[in-house]
Amino acid sequence: MACPKIIIPILTMVFLLFTFSKAKEILVGGKENSWTLPSNSSESITHLDEWAKNTIFERGDILIFKFDPKKDSVLRVTEKNFNGCNTSKPLERYRNKKTLIELDQCKPFYFISGAKGHCQKGQKVLANVVCGDTNSGIASFGTSTK
Ligand SMILES: *[C@@H]1O[C@H](CO)[C@@H](O)[C@H](O)[C@H]1NC(C)=O
Ligand SMILES: *[C@@H]1O[C@H](CO)[C@@H](O)[C@H](O)[C@H]1NC(C)=O
Repeated sequence: MACPKIIIPILTMVFLLFTFSKAKEILVGGKENSWTLPSNSSESITHLDEWAKNTIFERGDILIFKFDPKKDSVLRVTEKNFNGCNTSKPLERYRNKKTLIELDQCKPFYFISGAKGHCQKGQKVLANVVCGDTNSGIASFGTSTK
């Protein structure tokens, strides 16, 4: 028979793993073929923008960009280069057909398309990872403020 002294740490570990593995996979744009230049640019400019504003990004979540690497790419850039659609010196360049990017920090992540002229037409996404003081769900149970 296993001794409780061993079981308790194991249970604790399983519990911790369980509570910390709530990371989501988030398909950028919310549907297939979103990381592209929209055929109708007048409405598309806001599509990714709207989507990002209505999406909650949490630390550990995985962003999924799907695109044709022959035609496009994903660049992670600084805020300045995001605003200016400057593709010249990205912090990171991703070219996988299915690009997975872990949002591993509490900060804004700026992504723009590497295809010429696409960012200017709105193919860019700001994933703002906001972390509260309580980053485990447990802590928030007992501490109802008010
Ligand atoms: C683009 O979207 C706008 C607004 O939704 C619409 O009025 C326009 O007809 C669309 N243009 C094309 C070419 O689909
Ligand atoms: C683009 O960004 C690079 C590196 O950050 C910078 O050296 C360059 O001057 C920028 N170009 C423009 C047009 O702002």
